[in-house]
Amino acid sequence: MQKQMMENVKNEFVNRYGEGSNIRAFFTPGRVNIIGEHIDYNGGFVFPCALDFGTYAVVRKRNDRKARFATMNFDLEVTVDLDNIVYDEAHDWVNYPKGVIKMYEKIGPKVPGFDVLYYGDIPNGSGLSSSASLEVLTATMINVLAGGDIAPIQLVQLSQKAENEFVGVNCGIMDQFAVGMGKEDHAILLDCNTLEYQYVPFKLDGVKIVIANTKMRRGLADSKYNERRSECEEALRDLQDVLKIDYLCDMDEATFDQHAELINNPIARNRAQHAVYENQRVLKCVDALKKGDLETVGDLLYASHDSLRDLYEVTGKELDIMVEEAKKISGVLGSRMTGAGFGGCTVSLVEDEQVDAFIKNVGENYQKRTNLEPEFYVANVGQGAYEVKGV
Ligand code: GLA
Repeated sequence: MQKQMMENVKNEFVNRYGEGSNIRAFFTPGRVNIIGEHIDYNGGFVFPCALDFGTYAVVRKRNDRKARFATMNFDLEVTVDLDNIVYDEAHDWVNYPKGVIKMYEKIGPKVPGFDVLYYGDIPNGSGLSSSASLEVLTATMINVLAGGDIAPIQLVQLSQKAENEFVGVNCGIMDQFAVGMGKEDHAILLDCNTLEYQYVPFKLDGVKIVIANTKMRRGLADSKYNERRSECEEALRDLQDVLKIDYLCDMDEATFDQHAELINNPIARNRAQHAVYENQRVLKCVDALKKGDLETVGDLLYASHDSLRDLYEVTGKELDIMVEEAKKISGVLGSRMTGAGFGGCTVSLVEDEQVDAFIKNVGENYQKRTNLEPEFYVANVGQGAYEVKGV
């Protein structure tokens, strides 16, 4: 989090809503997933980490049950009656915080009215979880405003529920978990079935995490995402005729290979193969990382991308080109798409001395081949949601 940015949001808050005491400030990061893609909803392991950029909120309680929402990113300002929260297309991004309040009040105390100003520095639609960040930020904030004692993990879960049931995107738990529970300089090995997790040190000696934004907008992302989920469910149903499993990721590779023919639809079979193999790659990756074997970590990243391209079919031309160009640069250990896919970002592990060459060469070559101007971020691994004191 940048202190200066937080100050700017506070100043803008005062300009908009007026001076006064009891102003509080909150921050929630974005996330990047190192490996384990499209398997959170298949009961698998994922390995994301929180970033040091994200979403800021400055807020003050009101004496009624009205919530006024504004952001420095867009013009829209919306006032919502907290006794009548319903989805409204015209409310655009405000539907995310509205959904969160609705879910929060199902398990926590009533939320008092408030005025809030948000600011986000996660590029929109980049696959770095700007929505999860906004949700968990709102959940963390209202828990403080309402004087509730809902635990962080429950705030994470209700944020996912808001996205599933209020906004209508059937996402898994990974993003909300990463932005809510992230820890500085650590990635999280999360078992999405049990929600057991382990922090794994992720400050790599001499290696940086470089995120490359394809700038390709994720047009049909939500409908394609939901389609992939149903294909996995179809594969699971076929396998359950013979196997006693609850999730695709309950199988290891050998069990899958032995029973793959049970899945009638070849497309669903490919999706399932990705899920099973990707899950094992996550475990292999964490193992290699703990041993300091970064070469293997990098190879697993490339293998993950290939599988997302060929079996899961969620990459698309732009992400593929970005990875192809990364592969040509020496000092790049591995590279892959991150997040839901269909556009958005890649994540690469790049040796310190090669970062500038990476950004220059991959940038130029990518632009030549796609006519899109990419953006690059050298990422630091930050802390999950928190209140910023002393603002
Ligand atoms: C999106 C979803 C996550 C996860 C990823 C793919 O980011 O929100 O739950 O499924 O896609 O790994």
